[in-house]
Amino acid sequence: MTLPVRLAAGLLLLVPTLALGAASNVPLESMRPDHSNLPSLQRGAALYMNFCLGCHSLQHQRHNRTAEDLGIPEELYLENLLFDDVDIGSHITNAMPHQGGREWFGNAPPDLTMTTRVHGPAWVYTFLKSFYVDASRPFGVNNTVWENVGMPHALVELQGIPTLVCDGDRCDGTIEVEAGSGLMDEAQFNAAVYDLVNFLDYVGEPYKQDRQRIGVYVLLFLVILFVFTFLLGREYKKDLH
Ligand code: HEC
Repeated sequence: MTLPVRLAAGLLLLVPTLALGAASNVPLESMRPDHSNLPSLQRGAALYMNFCLGCHSLQHQRHNRTAEDLGIPEELYLENLLFDDVDIGSHITNAMPHQGGREWFGNAPPDLTMTTRVHGPAWVYTFLKSFYVDASRPFGVNNTVWENVGMPHALVELQGIPTLVCDGDRCDGTIEVEAGSGLMDEAQFNAAVYDLVNFLDYVGEPYKQDRQRIGVYVLLFLVILFVFTFLLGREYKKDLH
């Protein structure tokens, strides 16, 4: 290979490394969404409305579609999940002005309708569990999955106060929560974050359940069609002899 070709090849090899530069190397915890688990989705929706909607809209999803898919009667949904004057037929939006968001947080809180499709559910799950106290940050917290993130620890009330466990300057990303400082213990908090991400994953693909149901019908139809085709073929064969 000539030198310029070698240089070019070397540069190309660098590209993926550069793209990954922004990501952290904290291993992601596994998170397998289950859209057929309605109680989990319902709990996730409730957590979302209480702890996230203030900053993050879900602008491609409507309230009434959510209520229907999650099996929540509209009255209950209106009473428990919505503030007074919201129309159940509207999209899941909030009153956060884009410019205000930028000024308050450095970045406007993004819409989360597609967040699990962009990052994957495991990333969102691990991210929400990776906040830790860091007095040098504007909101007093940092995040091992997303260093210097411009989001406060929205679930601190539930989780309690998380601190990064370090040995001198060496921190391997382990986070410890001060016992009794939150409303939930570790298992409860993990379950709550699971439900929340399960809900977000459903919002990113509300038609998944429909698609799976339709898929089953299509297969049944094919099986029935096969039986008739088989019988018809046998009839034809009889006539041949
Ligand atoms: C006080 C406002 C606020 C609240 C409440 C809040 N967030 Fe955020 N969130 C932000 C901001 C601001 C960012 C962008 C951070 C940045 O760009 O550095 C963000 C980013 C994110 C991201 C990354 C999105 C992306 O695609 O880049 C996710 C996921 C997320 N938030 C989930 C949540 C969830 C789930 C909740 C509820 C438990 C929540 N947030 C509550 C302000 C908030």
